Order: sequence, then structure tokens, then C-alpha cells
Amino acid sequence: MALQTSSLAISAFSVHSEGKKSNGFSAIESSFSFLGVPLSDHRIAALKMKKKIAVRAQTTTAVTTPTPSISNSPNEKKTLRKGNVIITGASSGLGLATAKSLAETGKWNVVMACRDFLKAERAAKSVGMSKENYTVMHLDLASLESVRQFIDAFRRSEMPLDSLVCNAAVYYPNAKTPSFTADGFELSVGVNHLGHFYMSRLLLDDMVKSDYPSKRLVIVGSITGNTNTLAGNVPPKANLGDLRGLSGGLSGLGSTAMIDGGEYWGAKAYKDSKVCNMLTMQEFHRRYHEETGITFSSLYPGCIATTGLFREHIPLFRTLFPPFQKYITKGFVSEEEAGRRLAQVVSDRSLTKSGVYWSWNSTSASFQNELSEEASDAEKAKKVWELSDKLVGLA
Ligand SMILES: NC(=O)c1ccc[n+]([C@@H]2O[C@H](COP(=O)([O-])OP(=O)(O)OC[C@H]3O[C@@H](n4cnc5c(N)ncnc54)[C@H](OP(=O)(O)O)[C@@H]3O)[C@@H](O)[C@H]2O)c1
Repeated sequence: MALQTSSLAISAFSVHSEGKKSNGFSAIESSFSFLGVPLSDHRIAALKMKKKIAVRAQTTTAVTTPTPSISNSPNEKKTLRKGNVIITGASSGLGLATAKSLAETGKWNVVMACRDFLKAERAAKSVGMSKENYTVMHLDLASLESVRQFIDAFRRSEMPLDSLVCNAAVYYPNAKTPSFTADGFELSVGVNHLGHFYMSRLLLDDMVKSDYPSKRLVIVGSITGNTNTLAGNVPPKANLGDLRGLSGGLSGLGSTAMIDGGEYWGAKAYKDSKVCNMLTMQEFHRRYHEETGITFSSLYPGCIATTGLFREHIPLFRTLFPPFQKYITKGFVSEEEAGRRLAQVVSDRSLTKSGVYWSWNSTSASFQNELSEEASDAEKAKKVWELSDKLVGLA
């Protein structure tokens, strides 16, 4: 049984054929998005952003709003302050590698938002991050109260918020019964989606107030939530159904713990949570991009088979998965490379287009990927947003 589960799970993460090849987007398109937009124009826009944001749904697809970035001109470079970026789950894996990648440029103060303060401090030291480039702050996404406390602490620090990366995640592929957050939500969706949803909704105002020229909210997605890929077609497939479980609160009491109302299955709960992440990014884009100029993005960083994400898997899986990805599927990406990819989505001037799900091809060139039908369903995104708002008490 264990082996069966292992091989199923290996296949679930094994095939990395993305929906679309590189379209060559980068240098040319991005140059245009940065040319002809004087910084002063953007500062005017930043002032406008300070007014209260009206929540409104739009139905446009991804569009680029010209967003000024760090200029290459030596004069402008001098005037640009260090950016502040919050990265959740920066104590290991992708989050840590991204924190390192951004910190070592000397252009970012990385706020490592982590549930284990000491582990995060040690992790930062272990990868050689210099103290002046990071701050560790406590955050447990399995508790809405902890999210509020984190935001209070962040605001007391009086740092402007320039970018937010929703990266933390849990994955329970072998769990037979669900676990729950402090607020009673099934843990995978509670941490990966609802905790981040609540946090980003509250922190949007802080980002609006920032005068940083290129502000970004990034929500990490996954190939496994996209059924337009081979990997996304390995059972159990992501499927939010008619959202009856989400509507019922995912508490397992009087409603099921699964978004679609079905039987609990840990691997599916993770994939469903990733669909919510990708839908949330697009709904943010539709509601707020035009008005705020903030770039909303998601990404699939590649299969980082060595991270702690697989810690709940059986030992055999953890042993076989990395070489399987490296030598058989060739979908393997190192933590360092994945960190550089996510860092690009945070800071690269060629990735300012909002509403995009980024992926990388075999030569590590970024391209705008296509999401599955469900993960790009605007009507579903709106419903997930509204139900999530109710669950976290923002409706
Ligand atoms: N690994 C892959 O192949 C892969 C592929 C596609 C997408 N992703 C995505 O990449 C992201 C990072 O995953 P990873 O592979 O780097 O896994 P990871 O090494 O396990 O990192 C997950 C991070 O989330 C943190 N975390 C878990 N529960 C939390 C909570 N309640 N509150 C705050 N932080 C919490 C963990 O903290 P602790 O250190 O305290 O445990 C850890 O820092 C996830 O969004 C995942 O879906 C990964």
C-alpha cells in the first residue's frame, strides 16, 4: 500500500509538460512596459492610490499597466530606497531560496514571515544572509489571530510594504483524516489559501500606501492544480466542484472538510488549495490592478523535489523522488534556481505584467503559461473570493 501510494505520488509530481511553450515574452514587451513612464507620473498614481480602494469586479484578461521599475540610470538608482518584501514560509525551501536571492542583491529587506522564529533565524544564517538585509517576524497562517498579530507588528515597524509573496504551504499526501486550523478550517486550504487570502486582503492597503515604483503581490501556484497538464491529471485531480464544502466552512462538522464537499483526501486538498491560490491572484488582478498599479502574479517554479513540502511523505518516496525527477522526468529544479525564479517575479523588470501565471522552460526562460479551465474560471474566482471573505470575517 505504501509503495502504491508512493508511486502514485511520484507520478502526481512527475510529469512537467506545461500547457504552453515560451512565447518569447520578455525583453521586447518588457522594454515597452518600462519606456516612456517617468517616475513622476507614477508618484502621482501612488498618491491617487492612497484613497480607499473600492471593491469592484472586472472581467478583463491579463493586461499590462506600465509600471516604472528600478532605473538603470545612475542618477535615479541613487534615489531608490531599499524595497521591503514579506515572504511567508521563508524558513525553508523555495521561500528561503527566494529570500536569499533577493537579500543578496542588497536592494531588498526581506521580512521572513515564519511560524518558527528560531528556525528562520538559523536558516537565514545558514545561507549566508546578512543581518541588514532581512527581518524575521512571527506568523502562523493556521491562525487568523496570528495573521492579525503579524500585521500589527509589521505596521508598528513602520516599514513601507512594497511586495508580498504568499509562499508558505503544507501538504499531507498520506493523511487519512483531516487536521484543522485554530479557526476550524481544514489545514491545507486553511493555511495555503485562507490564511494567505486574509493576510493579502488586509495588507493590500499597506501596499497601496507605499511609494515604491513597482509593487507586486505574488501567490505561489502549482502545476499540480492545473488539469491542463499531465501532472495535473494524475489522481486525485484538483476540482473545487460547486464549492459546497467551502461554503459550509470546511470544518468537517455538518459539512465536509473538502472544498467540493467530497471525502477527505490530503493530496487533493493541497491541489484544491493551489487552485484557490491561482484563482485568488486573478481575482486580485481583476479587482485592483487597474486602480492600484500593483502587479498580481502567480507561478509554477518547477519541481523542487528536495524541499520540506514532502516531509509528510513516506521515506521511500522522499528517497526516490529527487533522482526520479532529475534523471527520468528531467523536471527537477534546485532550490537555488527556483528561488531565482520567484525572485524574478518579485523584482525583475521584465515580469511586471499583472494577472499572469509564470513558468520557465528547459533553458530557464520565463513565459506566460496557460492555466487550466477551472484555475482560470472568472466566475469561480469571484465565488471563491466571496466565500473566503465570509469565512475569514471580511464580508
Ligand atoms: N516543492 C515543489 O516541488 C513545489 C512545486 C510547486 C509549487 N511549490 C510551492 O512552493 C511553495 C513553498 O514550498 P516548498 O516546496 O518550499 O516547501 P517547504 O520547504 O516545506 O516550505 C514551506 C514553508 O511554509 C511554512 N509553513 C508551513 N505551515 C505554515 C504556517 N502554518 N504558518 C507559516 N508558515 C508555514 C514552512 O514553515 P516551517 O519551516 O516552520 O515548516 C516552510 O517555511 C508552496 O506554496 C508550494 O505549494 C512547491
